[in-house]
Amino acid sequence: MYSEKVMDHFVNPRNVGEIEDADGVGQVGNVKCGDIMKMYLKIEDDTIVDVKFKTFGCGSAIATSSIATEMIMGKSVEDAVALTNRAVVEALDGLPSQKVHCSVLAEQAVKAAIYDYAQKSGIVIKGLENFVPTDDHDHHDHEEEDEE
Ligand code: FES
Repeated sequence: MYSEKVMDHFVNPRNVGEIEDADGVGQVGNVKCGDIMKMYLKIEDDTIVDVKFKTFGCGSAIATSSIATEMIMGKSVEDAVALTNRAVVEALDGLPSQKVHCSVLAEQAVKAAIYDYAQKSGIVIKGLENFVPTDDHDHHDHEEEDEE
């Protein structure tokens, strides 16, 4: 059912943790399954120099966020914004159809973190013009998990 890559990233997730002085932090959640993903970015000259994540969720959410951190490391913020959930699924050699929404969470977490960076630094990033952080409206569902 799951590819070797999914299993590998689930069992040995890369870049787990948080960055204390992150330049961008994004948190997204899926209302239906209740999974939450948080992404931290360290950015220098509009390039992602470090990325960490914490995922409170299913194995596919962990695997997709893990591989997403590898895919955006060293990239420019504009390239990272262009990361699609489809590219994440392909990099994992596929996901069962009922698990594709987990990869959407990974795409959204990256976008939310870069959106946060753009807001803080007052810059406009191509590809994020229409981005709306999705976590806000379902915050009340997850209040007990919001540690900060
Ligand atoms: S089941 Fe919802 S993120 Fe995986």
